[in-house]
Amino acid sequence: MVFDSSCLSNNDIAIGLLRLMDERGCKPDIYAYDTIIDSLCKDKMIEDAFKLFNEMVFAKGIQPDVITYTSLIYGLCNLCRWDEVSKLLKEMEDLRISPNFQTFSILVDAFCKEGSVDEAEAVIDIMVERGEVPNIVTYNSLIDGYCLRGEMTKARSIFDSLTSKGLVPDVVTYSSLLNGYCKSLKIEEAIRMFHEVTRKGLNPDVIFYNTMIQGLFSVGRCGDACQLFDEMQAQGQTPNEYTYGIILDGLCSNHQLEEALSLFHLVGDSKLNYNIVVYSILIDGAGKRGKLDIVRALFHELHVKGLQPDVRTYTAMIRGFCRVGLLREAKNLFLKMGERGCPPDNVSYSVLLHGYLKNQHFNDVEILLQQMDRRSYSLDASTLSLLKDRVTAGSLDRSLLKLIGMLVPKS
Ligand SMILES: *[C@@H]1O[C@H](CO)[C@@H](O)[C@H](O)[C@H]1NC(C)=O
Repeated sequence: MVFDSSCLSNNDIAIGLLRLMDERGCKPDIYAYDTIIDSLCKDKMIEDAFKLFNEMVFAKGIQPDVITYTSLIYGLCNLCRWDEVSKLLKEMEDLRISPNFQTFSILVDAFCKEGSVDEAEAVIDIMVERGEVPNIVTYNSLIDGYCLRGEMTKARSIFDSLTSKGLVPDVVTYSSLLNGYCKSLKIEEAIRMFHEVTRKGLNPDVIFYNTMIQGLFSVGRCGDACQLFDEMQAQGQTPNEYTYGIILDGLCSNHQLEEALSLFHLVGDSKLNYNIVVYSILIDGAGKRGKLDIVRALFHELHVKGLQPDVRTYTAMIRGFCRVGLLREAKNLFLKMGERGCPPDNVSYSVLLHGYLKNQHFNDVEILLQQMDRRSYSLDASTLSLLKDRVTAGSLDRSLLKLIGMLVPKS
């Protein structure tokens, strides 16, 4: 048997070796199976992993161990296949295989990412009962879970309890809390976190700076955001494409289109400007200000550069057209984007509908609503109230109310 490794993945090679061992009468053991199953699970090849698992258990009569199960659970969690995770846990229990530290950590992390922090806490309790000691990584998952839910008081109290558990918060801990505070617009708390990290001599990385800069922009503190951008470079951190996007977006959202454009021109021919995200941000910023000449120039330029507009780019163009009442152009582009392999999404629909209503263009409203209903999109609050106003004013027929009712968000 000869392996041409150029066209085979490591997993294929490993499975090939397993077969070779078999042929040569050298029985593969649990370690061989565990290693390959783990590698398949990490590569999201869960079906192949289960095939090997079944072979091991049923054809070879080898008992799986905690490592086998932990690998499979990890693979399933990554794919959000929760029912199968529960099934495996039950199976482990039946076979009297106790989950180990790794198994518990994977479960805690998966629950937190799903927003199920109560389940994560329950797993930690079981973990402690079984004599495993949660470490900073376990608590980082939990803090992140609470931050994702915007439950900052809870996140903070876990953070505050770390010291009494003999644990030291690391950059990841601070990063989660900083992000949580920024997203909940608790900017003073975020700044305090930021200073604490610097004071403790933990080096804030680019992601850390990006989060803080974005947070400052989100509360309109553009000056501070730009100052931090300078500071980050002085500290030897090189801004990345996300930093650049955050700055452009922050400036545009805070009515500083001119500053955003001058930064864009300053960056010039660098790789940073060969990115559709950059163009979408600027087109959106210019469109919202009704600067259609800039919008068109940018759209032309991205074509020249060979960049593919995406849904966000098209939607930004449509918003720009609607803003200045160019409804025919908005509608044309809306129809064309689908033909160009980039069908409108719920935001595109919402933007065009909003444009129609604002500009008293009522002919196409009903058909748009029907299409939204067919796609199970719902109306955002401002479009909904605009629609109701137009019905009350008699510009739209009352018969539309039934359709509108179906498009009201369920929750
Ligand atoms: C569009 O859908 C996304 C995800 O389903 C949702 O978060 C967003 O609020 C929707 N936007 C609008 C304008 O309906």
